[in-house]
Amino acid sequence: MRIRNYRPADLQTLYKIDQVCFPPGIAYPKSELMRFITERNSRTWVAESGDDIIGFLIASLEAEDTAHIVTIDVVASSRRKGVGKALMGAAEDWAREQRATVLYLETAEGNIAAQRFYRARGYLKVEKVVGYYSNGAAAWVMAKRLHDDS
Ligand SMILES: CC(C)(COP(=O)(O)OP(=O)(O)OC[C@H]1O[C@@H](n2cnc3c(N)ncnc32)[C@H](O)[C@@H]1OP(=O)(O)O)[C@@H](O)C(=O)NCCC(=O)NCCS
Repeated sequence: MRIRNYRPADLQTLYKIDQVCFPPGIAYPKSELMRFITERNSRTWVAESGDDIIGFLIASLEAEDTAHIVTIDVVASSRRKGVGKALMGAAEDWAREQRATVLYLETAEGNIAAQRFYRARGYLKVEKVVGYYSNGAAAWVMAKRLHDDS
């Protein structure tokens, strides 16, 4: 498995992965995914195994010291093998290089696996946002201070 930078030819595959990773109302329309990826202050990493894309992560720098994980998706057959950890490591290294001190994200209230994944990386729940997703689901905002660890 290796992590590389996003290339425009990846978009359709990333869109398909996002559609199966998330339920309707949480998965992004292709236009929105494209917008997040091409935003000026964003970066996207892709995880590959052989010729197959098995995961990706989009992050953006939002303010002087704050970075945001827009989404992280790992295909079901490649989970619990460290792919998500490697993608988060790339995003956290980048955020530190950008001099961000806080990295935050939103995750659906019912997405216990993701909450455990983030908790294992040192992210803490800071706020619950009712009706955050277009399907009505609430989100937990989780955040990590980047200078607290390596
Ligand atoms: C959440 C997600 C990105 C995790 O990716 P992953 O590649 O499976 O994660 P890793 O293998 O790097 O896991 C690292 C650690 O996180 C924790 N973790 C990951 N998945 C977990 C789960 N389902 N249940 C409990 N803990 C979990 C564990 O501590 C794990 O270490 P371990 O396997 O040695 O016990 C992946 O499950 C996914 O894409 N889910 C669907 C999309 C999604 O929910 N994205 C996040 C929403 S904001």
